[in-house]
Amino acid sequence: LELQMNLEEIEKGGYDHFMLKEIYEQPRAIKDTYRGRLLADQGLIRMAGIDQNMEKFLNANRIIIVACGTSWHAGLVAEYIFEDLARIPVEVEYASEFRYRNPVITDKDILIAISQSGETADTLAAIKLAKEKGAFVFGVCNVVGSSIARETDAGAYTHAGPEIGVASTKAFTTQITVLTLIALKLAKAKGVFSESRYHEYLTELETIPSKVEKALQSNTLIEIIADVYKDSTNCLYLGRGYNFPVALEGALKLKEISYIHAEGYPAAEMKHGPIALIDEHMPVFVIATKKGHYEKVVSNIQEIKSRKGKIIAIVTEGDEQVRDLADHVIEVPETLESLTPLLTTIPLQLLSYHIAVMRGCNVDQPRNLAKSVTVE
Ligand code: G6P
Repeated sequence: LELQMNLEEIEKGGYDHFMLKEIYEQPRAIKDTYRGRLLADQGLIRMAGIDQNMEKFLNANRIIIVACGTSWHAGLVAEYIFEDLARIPVEVEYASEFRYRNPVITDKDILIAISQSGETADTLAAIKLAKEKGAFVFGVCNVVGSSIARETDAGAYTHAGPEIGVASTKAFTTQITVLTLIALKLAKAKGVFSESRYHEYLTELETIPSKVEKALQSNTLIEIIADVYKDSTNCLYLGRGYNFPVALEGALKLKEISYIHAEGYPAAEMKHGPIALIDEHMPVFVIATKKGHYEKVVSNIQEIKSRKGKIIAIVTEGDEQVRDLADHVIEVPETLESLTPLLTTIPLQLLSYHIAVMRGCNVDQPRNLAKSVTVE
């Protein structure tokens, strides 16, 4: 037993928990994801699984993304990325719903299955169904040689390295990285991107690991904020556009490991329900980075403030406007709008982590949850 414990300590690499280690691994993990693929100086993205099937992607009527849990949130981010950058229609589905819905699938559809473990039963079943109906199936997995990786027609690994913490962190950001690379490749091949815009994306992507590093430097501030809100019973997470799925993911992280009820919502939907919940006991985490409906999110923040809700905002470095309104602000570096989820996710992961630790929860193995769900 002692030997086993020591081994675990070594594996944690000096961190108290795998989750924290994996959060901190993200700059490296993202780099590993695009290593050998993103050749910014040559203006190239190399991905065999896409190159070999480019015709299929270019002729596809639409892309259907299936996944579960955090991977489903990565799929939602990808929906914005594919539609915005590559102008391909995308639908994102919970694998568990998709497989039983008698969905309309044709051989002109491409199904992308996203799965960290590559073993999730519902996602695997969705793949089998899509294959039966003639769709081309592409996998985005982390675990090499996993069932989903084997079952798909082609794929791209995330190369995030082993993820041990049940709450997914680096798998999420590396999934978004892979999906961004794919969208950029397709945008280029379709000719919907100007050379300069394409180049801007490639060079900006290369700066993401150091910007994630910078975002991680808010850790001490986030610990202080976590201490203020650790006894909350409910939390709301709001974001718009690319950062709406990040709000969902932020809420999921808090639920999973701290057992605090949390809901993610598109900020503009607040007025259709959640606003009724807001009072002085409700912390509201708002992603309010510059670009991407910034002014509209600011007015949502004003609405929360006038109802005495507590506002914790994730903002772009140097932001003054939200700072004046919010109870706390956490800064992330500026980047292209579609890349902001890679940065805004970081403080929300750290926040959930610290709150869970302060509440004495088992961060790496939360109650009732499994790392990979191989049964329905
Ligand atoms: C479980 C895990 C989650 C994960 C989800 C999907 O619920 O606890 O962290 O996001 O399964 O797993 P997958 O391996 O398919 O990404």
